[in-house]
Amino acid sequence: MPYYVTTPIYYVNAEPHLGHAYTTIAADVLARHMRQRGEEVFFLTGTDEHGEPVAQVAERLGTTPRELADKNYVRFRDLVERVNATNDFFIRTTDEQHETGVQRVVQRIHDNGYVYAGTYEGWYCPKCADFKTDADLVDGNRCPIHLIELEREKEDNWFFRLSAFQEPLERLYAERPHWVLPRNRYNEALSFIKQGLNDVSLSRARLSWGVPVPWDESQVIYVWIDALLNYYTALSYARPGEDLTARFWPPSVHLIGKDILKFHAVIWPAMLMAAGIEVPERLYIHGYLLMDEHKMSKSLGNVIDPFEVMDLYGTDALRYYLLREVSFGQDGNVSTAGFETRYTTELANEYGNLASRTLAMIGRYRDGVVPTARPEPALVAEFEDVPARLRERFDVVDVSGALEVVWQAVRRLNRYVQDEQPWQLAKDESQGERLDQVLYSLAEGLRFVSVLVHPFLPESASKLLAALGREDLALDGARFGAAPGGAELGELPPLFPRVERDRAA
Ligand code: MSP
Repeated sequence: MPYYVTTPIYYVNAEPHLGHAYTTIAADVLARHMRQRGEEVFFLTGTDEHGEPVAQVAERLGTTPRELADKNYVRFRDLVERVNATNDFFIRTTDEQHETGVQRVVQRIHDNGYVYAGTYEGWYCPKCADFKTDADLVDGNRCPIHLIELEREKEDNWFFRLSAFQEPLERLYAERPHWVLPRNRYNEALSFIKQGLNDVSLSRARLSWGVPVPWDESQVIYVWIDALLNYYTALSYARPGEDLTARFWPPSVHLIGKDILKFHAVIWPAMLMAAGIEVPERLYIHGYLLMDEHKMSKSLGNVIDPFEVMDLYGTDALRYYLLREVSFGQDGNVSTAGFETRYTTELANEYGNLASRTLAMIGRYRDGVVPTARPEPALVAEFEDVPARLRERFDVVDVSGALEVVWQAVRRLNRYVQDEQPWQLAKDESQGERLDQVLYSLAEGLRFVSVLVHPFLPESASKLLAALGREDLALDGARFGAAPGGAELGELPPLFPRVERDRAA
């Protein structure tokens, strides 16, 4: 089964921050793991460039939305590269092929009878690009997310008959209880649906920055309808001369933050049903990265610059920290102090030192050649089900759970060195065979955990595997004891060097 994974497409109205890096990194870990399984993978990310969120900021800056988008999208594309994401395509909603693709699907929804002309009267938050009900508002007439005062709007526009999908959506939820994960998000979306669905605007009259409605050029398609369709249009033009839709549709998993649950869990499947397109297999909703208990966001100003972190500590350290510190699916605090602690105690000490010590001992005691020996039986037994447990975690998109499974194995190897004390064995000639076994088991253990941890720490794990002379990443080969001894060790550069504190300040 081909595997198609996506991130949200990010608004280009501001600089990317750690929250954007988070979803992209998690999606990349999934994509890399699935490739290790031998699956055919398509990984999509990109930028959302239309609508008020971008138009308003452009106006404030005295520039055009297009100029702003052209300038800012580069930062998001740079971030994707910088975090080492292996995305197969980067979509921009201003791509011409995306725009014509959106028009085609919206026309289909219209032709299928799910569009009508109406008047919208109510609250609208330009920052969310979302319509609000009285019940949504806080402090009188403020947006509950951005806390800005909203105005009542009245405009004639085209409506999508979302209410017609009340029953089909309830059926979807009943038939596929795992289509939205984690479970609390499934419940949240379902209860929203059960409250009764109102029709939603499909177009905007007052805005010109968007994709024209095909049958009414005076209006542009509502930015969320335009944006959601990126997941579908991208496949049709990502590879020039080839349409990948038949191969990869429907998506295996849309990874999103909980801020955009309603759009993905309610409007999106309804739109697809209206157009006669198969709905995605799964949504996975992760939580927020918090700083001092508040959602990290540009509007609150409490953001960490991911580029700065990576300049100091490297990409792998950031990837690791985000997926280790915050239990995937839940909110979690991040902080510079927490980051430094994990960097030193886990990456540098538990993984980096284990690697350098092992290689140094094999260098010193066995001339840099991994001895041939039977793998330590206790470790064989304990590690036997690790790959299966890892797959299981990934199957339910529990990315941090998967990392925990591997890290337990890393810690087990650290205990093994402590217990066996190879440096003592080396002093006693009669212990030569035992030393062979311990050193082989350590090298093999490092190979084993490095293959498994590779999606999280691609640079470091690759360096270590290269130094161990075993670079195969296939998950099938990730069995403790599967690789024979005899490999000649190469140089291992320091994986997680000490970072000067004043540089970090
Ligand atoms: N453009 C829309 C999405 C359209 S998808 C068809 C949008 N863009 S956004 O720039 O606001 O990005 C929102 C997404 O960024 C969240 O869903 C989440 O994936 C990520 N995050 C932004 N801030 C975040 C945190 N503080 N914590 C975790 N993820 C965060 O909404």
